Amino acid sequence: MKNTVLTFKQAKEKGEKLSMLTAYDYSTARLIDESGVNSILVGDSLGNVILGYEDTISVTMEDMIHHSAAVARGAQNVLVICDMPFMSYQTSVYDAVVNAGRLMKEGRANAVKLEGGKEVCPQIKAIVDAGIPVCGHLGLTPQSINAFGGFKVQAKTEAAAKKLIADAKAVEAAGAFAVVLECVPAKLAELVTKELSIPTIGIGAGNVCDGQVLVYQDMLGMFTDFTPKFVKRFENIGEVMKRAFAAYDAEVKAGTFPDKEHEYTISDDVLEKLY
Ligand code: KIV
Repeated sequence: MKNTVLTFKQAKEKGEKLSMLTAYDYSTARLIDESGVNSILVGDSLGNVILGYEDTISVTMEDMIHHSAAVARGAQNVLVICDMPFMSYQTSVYDAVVNAGRLMKEGRANAVKLEGGKEVCPQIKAIVDAGIPVCGHLGLTPQSINAFGGFKVQAKTEAAAKKLIADAKAVEAAGAFAVVLECVPAKLAELVTKELSIPTIGIGAGNVCDGQVLVYQDMLGMFTDFTPKFVKRFENIGEVMKRAFAAYDAEVKAGTFPDKEHEYTISDDVLEKLY
């Protein structure tokens, strides 16, 4: 059954957990879609794990549309949420609505996600008013990495924790249907989760959040440049892939692949006329 923003609302009301994974292409989206996971986030983490950038700053609207459309073609059941890339919404309310519209219209996303608290609430309200569901993102917001000075746990001081709570309430009041909490202390995430009537989706925010999200390459051991503390490796597919690539290489070089079973045939009548 198709997951929608109503699924998120009902899950919060019933106290049922929500699962979310990132994906950036059609075939991965199909696999996740068949797994029972509620939602796919086409994260701007594609800058890191797909495009090989050191951060998400250089990701463009064109990148997000391209990957969101691929994911949407593989998504029957999941709610597809697409990240708004850096500078596609911070610049003005007008830019935010136009770009959110493009992610839905051209990228076929069901919802968009953007980073920030009170300062982006006018954007959230305008996008929601245009009929586009918005997921917020607070705590460690990777698009502000240069302002933070690195990937660090956020909201550890009293002032910062109070600001995060106020931002979460503001994002909810602006109309967001959910909010991602990234890299914040578990007890603070628990407090925010209790204060909000929309679901909190944690990543490095403990297990009391209403849902969880992970970057799929992290949980499958396919991306090892940097592994945050909050990542659990559910399988080591990276090693499986490397073994398969090496086996292919060995068989090609030994002349044992392709085998007879991988060949196409031609009739002898045709063949003898070729000589
Ligand atoms: O871009 C992304 O993958 C994200 C998640 C880490 C929440 O924003």
